[in-house]
Amino acid sequence: MRTVLIIGIGAGNPDYLTVQAIEAMNRADVFFIPDKGREKAALRRLREDILARFMRRPGYRTVELPIPQRSQETTDYRASVDAWHAKLENIHRNMLESELPDGQTAAFLVWGDPTLYDSTMRIVEAIRAKGFALDYEVIPGISAVQALAARHRVPLNRIAEPVLITTGRRMGDDGFPDGLDNAVVMLDGERAFEKVDPAGVEIWWGAYLGTPDEILMSGKLADIGGEIGGVRDRARQQHGWIMDTYLLRRIGKP
Ligand SMILES: C[S@@+](CC[C@H](N)C(=O)[O-])C[C@H]1O[C@@H](n2cnc3c(N)ncnc32)[C@H](O)[C@@H]1O
Repeated sequence: MRTVLIIGIGAGNPDYLTVQAIEAMNRADVFFIPDKGREKAALRRLREDILARFMRRPGYRTVELPIPQRSQETTDYRASVDAWHAKLENIHRNMLESELPDGQTAAFLVWGDPTLYDSTMRIVEAIRAKGFALDYEVIPGISAVQALAARHRVPLNRIAEPVLITTGRRMGDDGFPDGLDNAVVMLDGERAFEKVDPAGVEIWWGAYLGTPDEILMSGKLADIGGEIGGVRDRARQQHGWIMDTYLLRRIGKP
């Protein structure tokens, strides 16, 4: 039987790695390292640094996993994601077939936590569902959501309140849903916070969390939304890419 370990490595700081993640890494014969092109080179380097720092076991292999860009041509977002997932599934399956001999263990080092806005579990399940025999385990990691809250020293919820985790696209299209006071926004390519009615809303924003380039800003959305937008644009230009996450909260309650 082939075994696959889907290991959350935390969102940016190698110190976010858990003991369980380090132990799992040291069971792996081969690591599949996603290559998402130039803008994500920094993320690939972090994975390589993690291996260099935490692997006690000699003789492991690393194999680059070429990750295609999702097509931006279609206006049907769902269709383009489905087509992209089908491509990813093929690439993963071919890699597992050619690079993971029966009886060996492969690891995917997944950014943040594998259960949050990540396709690896879905892809591995889809490959298994088509009859490819493999067993797999999931090791949780510190997501950008937890990193954001800890770095700002802000709880995600006030007492007994729910928290929504959503995407920039949904927040931009649908707005801050009625009846909810706390929302964490991820995968925001378009500064969705600028589309939210800022009256009575506070924001805690973080970019490049856990890395030496980390930026943290917080305050009333009406006061600092524009400033965050400017900082975000300049940082994106300087680095060539950006990853940011933010918490929005309706204030005026204890
Ligand atoms: C594909 S999702 C992956 C989420 C990841 N699985 C997690 O648990 O954090 C990528 C999004 O996560 C957020 N993100 C991940 N790492 C981050 C970081 N270091 N700083 C800020 N946001 C981050 C951003 O919203 C980014 O668009």
